[in-house]
Amino acid sequence: MATTQFRIIGGKPLHGQVRCEGAKNAALPIMAAALLASEPVHLQNVPQLTDIATQSKLLRRLGLAVSIERTCEKPLEMTLETMDAQPVVAPESCVRQMRASFCVLGPLLARRRKAVVPLPGGCRIGDRPVDLHWKGLAALGADLRLEHGCVVAEARRLTGATIELSGPRGPSVTGTANVMSAAVLARGVTILRDAALEPEIVDLGCFLTALGAKIEGLGTSTLRIEGVEQLGGARHRLIPDRIEAATLLLAAAITRGSATVLDVRPDHLQTVLEKLRAAGAAVDVGADRVSIAATGPVQPASVIAEPFPGLPTDVQAQWTALMSLADGTCTVQDLVFSGRFSHVAELNRLGACIACRDDIATINGVPRLEGTSVAASDLRASAALVLAGLAADGPTTVEHIHHLDRGYQRLDEKLRRLGAQIERIGLPVESAL
Ligand code: UD1
Repeated sequence: MATTQFRIIGGKPLHGQVRCEGAKNAALPIMAAALLASEPVHLQNVPQLTDIATQSKLLRRLGLAVSIERTCEKPLEMTLETMDAQPVVAPESCVRQMRASFCVLGPLLARRRKAVVPLPGGCRIGDRPVDLHWKGLAALGADLRLEHGCVVAEARRLTGATIELSGPRGPSVTGTANVMSAAVLARGVTILRDAALEPEIVDLGCFLTALGAKIEGLGTSTLRIEGVEQLGGARHRLIPDRIEAATLLLAAAITRGSATVLDVRPDHLQTVLEKLRAAGAAVDVGADRVSIAATGPVQPASVIAEPFPGLPTDVQAQWTALMSLADGTCTVQDLVFSGRFSHVAELNRLGACIACRDDIATINGVPRLEGTSVAASDLRASAALVLAGLAADGPTTVEHIHHLDRGYQRLDEKLRRLGAQIERIGLPVESAL
């Protein structure tokens, strides 16, 4: 089957300015948490992505009316409202497509007292267990079992508890989202230790607070949640997507260009910006914009992908692409997803010189990459291949762009606005929201 692909003629420095969309990883758990609300929820700055379409479809199947207001050139506004509070079974087709749909588990359980959610699919980036979600909900008093590949969770009323949520690789982002979203309606106080610190979790906490939840400690590793009887509705603006912003800045850096990314939260990007400076780029930060200018050679800058505030694992592949052109040797380690290196073989096809061992890639920088045909295998790996294609000499084809469309709103259009020669071949980006 022919898949959507990007054809890129690389070697041209990018210049100009683009805006950053709302954060996918904030939108998805917040949309799921709309199941908790007893009045309408209005979300602003919603990105137009296939993952958002998947989550909308899932929530409609769970009895929510999801309506979308599209105003030309402006981000989407979305209204979610419960029409039928009976459904508790999440359809397998949606959950298998996207791991974040597992975030309906906590809200369904808390509000409807039962949830049947298939074990998730999503990007193939190694072993992705859900034991922490399970442990947290069980500690709140839920009865959980696995039946025919589905998690079945039931509870007459959840009860607050003290829960340690850290696993062998640190806190879980969507695990924190699930347990926090359930605890807001539990009887009594929940103390969540080793909670994820990611800005998307803070955004979810702000949204829940706007609904009427009582949460203290957002942005720290210990959350104190006092359960309430009922939540109302809210109007909430999603935070900017720090991963999209980082990808656009790295696109400018890898082409030795300059760009300004507007509508960002620089405080969410600190480690990425520090590392870009270490790689030789000039970075200038405004209140809600970041500008980058990269002229000299790429300096080798080793990174370790870690939970926030460390370098995000979702930027690891793009960083590896940038370092493939470094003037020297460096390493990229991923402490969050040790097996997340599927992009390395494809980068090597473009002429990079990268060797992987365990969770570390050792990169011997090369002076140039050469265009060829490469295939994306997950969302951020595809972004890395697009960046490498922008820097490579001659034409590059990146196959399986449906992975990229899950998390980047029309990346090809944004890159063209910055002067890239990039063309989409095949299906237009799905906008079946
Ligand atoms: C979220 C993000 C994803 C990002 C990741 C890490 C969303 C929708 N997705 O994914 O883009 O790459 O955080 O920043 O927000 N783990 C366990 N047990 C569990 C759950 C996770 O051991 O029950 C492990 C994982 O295998 C991994 C680490 O914990 O090694 C972190 O995973 P987690 O934070 O849960 O990732 P996601 O929430 O799935």
